[in-house]
Amino acid sequence: MKDIAIVTGASSGIGKAYVRELSLDKNGYEQIWVVARREDKLNELKSDFKDDRIVPVPLDLGDRSAVSDISSKLSSGEYNVKLLINCAGLGKRALFEEQSVEALGATLDVNCRALTLLTRVCIPYMSKGSGIVNVASSAAFLPQPTFTVYAASKSYVTSFTRALSVELKPSGITATAVCPGPVNTEFQSNATDGKSSEFTGFRKLIVADPDKLAKASLKAHKSGRCLYVYGISQKLLHVVSKIVPVSLMLMFMKVNKEKK
Ligand SMILES: NC(=O)c1ccc[n+]([C@@H]2O[C@H](COP(=O)([O-])OP(=O)(O)OC[C@H]3O[C@@H](n4cnc5c(N)ncnc54)[C@H](OP(=O)(O)O)[C@@H]3O)[C@@H](O)[C@H]2O)c1
Repeated sequence: MKDIAIVTGASSGIGKAYVRELSLDKNGYEQIWVVARREDKLNELKSDFKDDRIVPVPLDLGDRSAVSDISSKLSSGEYNVKLLINCAGLGKRALFEEQSVEALGATLDVNCRALTLLTRVCIPYMSKGSGIVNVASSAAFLPQPTFTVYAASKSYVTSFTRALSVELKPSGITATAVCPGPVNTEFQSNATDGKSSEFTGFRKLIVADPDKLAKASLKAHKSGRCLYVYGISQKLLHVVSKIVPVSLMLMFMKVNKEKK
């Protein structure tokens, strides 16, 4: 049996940082499957990290056949999935009614559907000591006007992962939901359709480095944590979100909505 790691969203940002981190572990995995749409970026990972164990798996996780493709690859029976990192994700910052049905569907399909089904497909190929890292967000802690579906999708990821971690405990498989705040990646540019490539306001002051996040979250995962909130500011937000009633916080959230 070959020990493998599977990382989705590996073509950039946090997913790429996870691949870098796994690549440093020369004895941990015989193969590292890297999943995303941009095949050129996946191919570059091999040379970037000088690691022949990296196997590009170009797939659109918004496509309903993508998870079946991975399932078919695993069904040869020669693989032990030692680590699954569900990192692929997206979200649009805009009023809900201004987002297209297609964009909303893609957010749900990648952030929730593919993450859930890929996890389901991988578990039969896992064994004691295997792990699942699901990248959620501190957006999971509170409803977020103008980021409604993204925040709700990340609440789903957190809830799903925490419950799953209990179910998997007897099998010796650890599941961890990772909740970072703003991270310096392509995410913000994609979320604003290229209008803003950097975080603004207070978010700019707390933006995290993807490499540091990947390293710290893998350490937390190995220690058996089912929820890992990254960074002091996000830990504080997590505590506040548990103490202050959501209805009260929503009263202070405003959106600029122009009348059409
Ligand atoms: N950056 C932040 O501030 C932040 C904060 C909290 C949580 N997160 C979460 O962290 C995760 C990684 O985001 P990031 O910050 O690294 O952003 P990113 O640089 O935009 O990376 C997103 C990754 O997801 C992949 N992806 C998107 N749609 C896909 C699809 N349909 N099929 C396959 N892969 C797809 C992208 O690859 P392709 O485009 O090549 O397909 C890319 O590799 C996401 O789940 C995000 O929600 C980010």
